[in-house]
Amino acid sequence: MAFSPQFLDELRTRSGLADAIGRRVRLSRKGREHIGLCPFHKEKTPSFTVNEDKGFYHCFGCGAHGSVIDFVMNTEGMSFPEAVERLAGEAGMEVPADTPEERRRARQRQSLYDVMEAACAYFEKTLRMPEGRQGLAYFRGRGLDDETIARFRLGFAVDARGAIKGALARDGVQEDLLVAAGLLIRPDDAARPAYDRFRGRVMFPIADKRGRLIAFGGRILGAGEPKYLNSPETPLFHKGRVLYGLAEAAPAARKQGTLIVAEGYMDVIALVRAGFENAVAPLGTALTEDQIRELWRLAREPVLCFDGDAAGERAAFRAAERVLPLLKPGYSLRFAFLISGEDPDSQIKRYRREFMTGALDHALSLSDLLWRMETWSRPRNTPEQRAALKKRLGDHARTINDPTVRSQFLQGFNDRLWRDPRPAGRERGRGPAPTVRLDPKAGLGVRVDPLREEQQVLLAIIINHPGFIDRVEDQLGSVDFGDESLDHLRQAVLSILSGGAGVDADGLREELTRRGLSESLDALFGHVLVRRHRLIRSEASLEDVQATWDESYALLRRAALTAEMQRRKEAAAGGYMKKDEWDPDHSLIRAALEDLGE
Ligand code: UTP
Ligand code: MN
Repeated sequence: MAFSPQFLDELRTRSGLADAIGRRVRLSRKGREHIGLCPFHKEKTPSFTVNEDKGFYHCFGCGAHGSVIDFVMNTEGMSFPEAVERLAGEAGMEVPADTPEERRRARQRQSLYDVMEAACAYFEKTLRMPEGRQGLAYFRGRGLDDETIARFRLGFAVDARGAIKGALARDGVQEDLLVAAGLLIRPDDAARPAYDRFRGRVMFPIADKRGRLIAFGGRILGAGEPKYLNSPETPLFHKGRVLYGLAEAAPAARKQGTLIVAEGYMDVIALVRAGFENAVAPLGTALTEDQIRELWRLAREPVLCFDGDAAGERAAFRAAERVLPLLKPGYSLRFAFLISGEDPDSQIKRYRREFMTGALDHALSLSDLLWRMETWSRPRNTPEQRAALKKRLGDHARTINDPTVRSQFLQGFNDRLWRDPRPAGRERGRGPAPTVRLDPKAGLGVRVDPLREEQQVLLAIIINHPGFIDRVEDQLGSVDFGDESLDHLRQAVLSILSGGAGVDADGLREELTRRGLSESLDALFGHVLVRRHRLIRSEASLEDVQATWDESYALLRRAALTAEMQRRKEAAAGGYMKKDEWDPDHSLIRAALEDLGE
């Protein structure tokens, strides 16, 4: 029986050479390849190499060479069709019948790739023409340079019903193919003509993992719905199987052994531009099983990025619940939390690159995420509360299908419950828990607010040196602290000291305690940074204290100004602000930044 080249291609890529071979041969990674002892001849030092990118194994000792299909034939003693059927079964693929119909479909797929390619070239060209002006301005407004536009093959679809239809028809492409490719919409009423699907949108071409174009995402220029319009399902495009940027990210991901999963097209582009080349995104849906398996081909623990706000936490938790049943030994996900309110694109623009690296480095493991989600903010002082916690954690673990992983999770949670120090005292009935929570907004306690430490420094200074308020009252009054508990402290300090009654450090602490802020105070002065910072202690010299204050204040102020400037730029680019309503050159903000010594 003959199989179509397309089917065999797909089977080879879907089968994961290193995975399939790794089941029989112990492989270790060496650069772009895996290496191990050759299963086809006896040897003591490994000369058997597996190159996943090329899709071949090769033995430098005995010359054995082939694809994943050859490997199964040769190691299992199977015929070609048997090997194909076995691999297709494992990859969850249907073995196609070799009928004329199937051959016709294979040919159609090939022409569809060509159509997508032609459409992409057309959108790219349009972006550079006078009628693409708006699109180019949009990309420029979002900070993309020509190199990036070319690299991601970004384009523009004009706001007309017959633009791509006309252009590709002139190249001799049949209308049926354009409809099948998802580029034209054919109305149910056959009397009415087919028309362009993408109109007045900037275009993001979407490729499969081998880099062939299979779909587009089109973003509206201003406000409007839907913000992104994607290609419909076509013979080439199945949304739930595709990851944006995968073909480009794969080499970097293999090299680094890790993969970053963001939410949107612009996030992937921003990450790649910032040097995180191993970035991909699903297409507007939560990660599917297929996508997770695809990620695992490239990295054992891909890192998912979430907004550091409550919604981001909930999304992370849902992703965690979804992946549990799929876990297998050695494979998992990690969870990175960005600065509250940011996605990778905006975070990279507003903050230094290190904040992104930091978020990725501090990504939580799956079990840490579950633990924190279940424990934070829930009391666990009484046996009943602890039993309830144990049950919730156990319920999560029991959704894991793999028995080895499941028992590890259960054991890990149990160990942790056992070790987990109970918050002292309350169980013995010292009265109700204090009403002021330590850090109500902090949630998982993993949110990286890069400015938080500067805020802590300012607060610690003013609490240790209340006399300073005369010099810095305006400054302390004008900076917002993102963290709620720190901001409570800030406001309380301001209100206590503003009376000008000459409160000293002890008096200030007493009053803060009286106002129910003792836990926030303890947290602040318990923080390593504050504990170790010599230049802010009460015995530090006033000069040192002033210099430290100035430095932290300048950082905070600069961040606030930069964020404001960015917001204004985006608002202007999106057409949300009228030009004359604001300061087009940001001269006021620039001047303020200069005052800070920019
Ligand atoms: P977001 O709304 O988070 O978009 O959707 P974004 O990438 O930050 O967009 P910008 O920065 O405003 O341009 C995330 C992803 O969800 C899909 C797209 O794939 C998008 O990149 N999406 C979103 C849709 O498919 N349709 C929509 O209407 C919105
Ligand atoms: Mn965005």
